[in-house]
Amino acid sequence: MTQKDRNPAEASPAAPLHMIDIIRKKRDGAELGAREIGFVAAGAADGSIPADQLAAWLMAAWLNGLSLDETRALTLAMRDSGEKFSPARLGKRAVDKHSSGGVGDKTSFLVAPLAAACGVAVPMISGRALGHTGGTLDKLEAIPGYRTALTLAEFEAVIEKCGASIVGQTPKLVPADRVLYALRDRTGTVENPGLICASILSKKLAAGLDGLVLDVKTGSGAFLRKMEDTEFLAALMVATAEAAGTRTVALLTDMGQPLGRAAGNFIELVECVELLRGARPSYSEDVRELSLILAGWMIALGGKADSQKTGYTLAEVALTDGAALAAFFRMIDAQGGDVSVFDDPAAFHKPGATKVVEAWESGFVAEMDTTALGWAVQRTGAGREKAGEPVDPHAGILFHARRGARVERGEPLATIYATTAAQLAEPEEILRKAIIISKSPPHAVPLVGRVFTRDEAEKFLQDGVR
Ligand code: URA
Repeated sequence: MTQKDRNPAEASPAAPLHMIDIIRKKRDGAELGAREIGFVAAGAADGSIPADQLAAWLMAAWLNGLSLDETRALTLAMRDSGEKFSPARLGKRAVDKHSSGGVGDKTSFLVAPLAAACGVAVPMISGRALGHTGGTLDKLEAIPGYRTALTLAEFEAVIEKCGASIVGQTPKLVPADRVLYALRDRTGTVENPGLICASILSKKLAAGLDGLVLDVKTGSGAFLRKMEDTEFLAALMVATAEAAGTRTVALLTDMGQPLGRAAGNFIELVECVELLRGARPSYSEDVRELSLILAGWMIALGGKADSQKTGYTLAEVALTDGAALAAFFRMIDAQGGDVSVFDDPAAFHKPGATKVVEAWESGFVAEMDTTALGWAVQRTGAGREKAGEPVDPHAGILFHARRGARVERGEPLATIYATTAAQLAEPEEILRKAIIISKSPPHAVPLVGRVFTRDEAEKFLQDGVR
């Protein structure tokens, strides 16, 4: 390379930076330094870099990928782009759980109170429905009065009182991600491991977590379908968060069917409250088990158990003795929610239209296209078509048969709750195509697959297995 060809972005470490040089460098496949990455994140957050240049940089990063060092630098720069929450004053270790998104994935409503009841602080900053997956905030807002937009001072006060608080992102928290995520959504640059890792972890690390449990979904309802991509993302997130000082573990878990019975808004909370009240319906066994496993890790990372196994046992006690239910109701009450809707959930639940879909033939539930089922749930009115639209708290689908179940023709397979009668046909049509009934049962799929701790994640990344 002659002096003339050299990119000015490679000039001396103290030289002023220019976005055009950084875009060209990334476009040409070179690795950016932490200072350049920090310049991009700060410029996204304060609006000093225009959207067209950020979009060009995102596409260059998507096409050429981000190295481990670039991913780490972007995560930290985005974390530091706005306000941060400090759990230090709580006097307990702060641990959260993040799920990569699924259908009927309601474990947040169980793991937060389970870990809180076992003495761990849970500052949980959650999101809304994304694509075919449901959103924790949309579900919680089905409870009349529940406030998801708290100030950081209110957030801290709720955690102090109840052990856990589940809220939405504030406008000042990680502003770089708000800008970059919206641009990624519009420019086809979402599905890149480095960008996903920085986006998810910047928000989690801005909550000052001591520990983080990542539930990375696999199977027909997951965002990433290829096992090697899922494993790489899990390992990348563990190594990046650990390097930032947060003890982290990632579990690969099955999303080859909806988790539990309910997928929607209020109906998912009802399923969780049933479990928190000590019920053990067979159709919710997977939600119960996965929540105890995740809570076991949270309790161990929170220093309240010497191993995940002991954490699991402590969580199970908190589930059966009512301590977790009390913590959940205290949190709802502290955030303005009316817990009396759970006195008689059936009386509160008023969907606009209901339809029971019966099995069209006898056999085994062999396959469920869970992404399609997620879209069916969204079409009931439980999700939104456009950003900012309201969702129907009463809408959703109850699944009566799990994968592997034997069903007889005419037996109820699912109950659709829609906003209007006109919104019943589309979810039903999707459901009839997405559920395959066959003569023989499918192979069993384990609920939890590979687990990445720090050592395993680092080894995986060093081996370069993709
Ligand atoms: N969730 C996030 O917050 N960011 C991503 O990039 C993907 C999922």
